[in-house]
Amino acid sequence: MKITVVGAGNVGATVADNLVRRELAEEIVLLDIKEGFAEGKAMDMNQTATLNGFDSKVVGSTNDYSKTAGSSVAVITSGIPRKPGMTREELIGTNAKIVQMVTESLIKHSPDIIIVVISNPMDTMTYLTSKTSGLPKNRIIGMGGILDSARFKYRLTEQLGCSPNDLQAQVIGGHGDTTMIPLINHATYNSMPVTQFLSQEQQDHVVKETMVGGATLTKLIGTSAWYAPGAAGAELVESIVRNQKKMFPCSVLLNGEYGQDDICIGVPVIIGKNGWENVVEFDLSADEKEKFEASAAAVRKMNAALDENL
Ligand code: 2OP
Repeated sequence: MKITVVGAGNVGATVADNLVRRELAEEIVLLDIKEGFAEGKAMDMNQTATLNGFDSKVVGSTNDYSKTAGSSVAVITSGIPRKPGMTREELIGTNAKIVQMVTESLIKHSPDIIIVVISNPMDTMTYLTSKTSGLPKNRIIGMGGILDSARFKYRLTEQLGCSPNDLQAQVIGGHGDTTMIPLINHATYNSMPVTQFLSQEQQDHVVKETMVGGATLTKLIGTSAWYAPGAAGAELVESIVRNQKKMFPCSVLLNGEYGQDDICIGVPVIIGKNGWENVVEFDLSADEKEKFEASAAAVRKMNAALDENL
């Protein structure tokens, strides 16, 4: 088994590091356009094999897609990350062309691949990959909701003083500061609604902090985050590779589900060996439905900007 990670920057390298530690494939190909960069990161990771106790191998490559041939899964992290004060949406001008080129190069060498998209603006980049790859829709998955849900649980843990592993919570909608929808009324603490334990003020605080989770980190670090995005990417790949059938909110091409058509946006899906297998319909309240529709409208607006940016 071979897994490819395109982009050896902070997020891509962290995805590869998580994949190799979990021994999800014999070979993890890490590819970057910067001469020697991916090779260097791969060597550094391989030198942790005896320290972290794995037998898998990371192979670095400077833009040589022949090295990716026969990959079962690829994770696209290419493009520029956001700087403090920037929205994910502002990256479209640079990232659309890059993501399209990467997709074409991957498919040339691995026609049956499953592609996980992390590059931003993630929902629009997933839509672009879906539209241009010619792959069945189930083989294209946008990773944003798993990360946003992990951040949601982090913020809930702060307020509840509980273990994050005792929480179940999902963020659906677009992967944007104003488009994501942390479903606080569906979140549970060991099967009990979290709303039972939190004041309205605390609930509002959790939702607000979750939505700006990426921006908060970008402001603190000076560039976009990588530990949680990398771990979230690996978690998604693991469910594919081990056919775990985990349910995650992911950005997928909808065909009538949640009342939406021809759009990639975050909804709960089951992830297994064929990619995303089916969409799970939440029983959303009127208010949540309204928020989902507004989120879809914002994502559609971004998709419409693709034409001018390709
Ligand atoms: C984030 O939210 C990279 O979009 C990613 O940190």
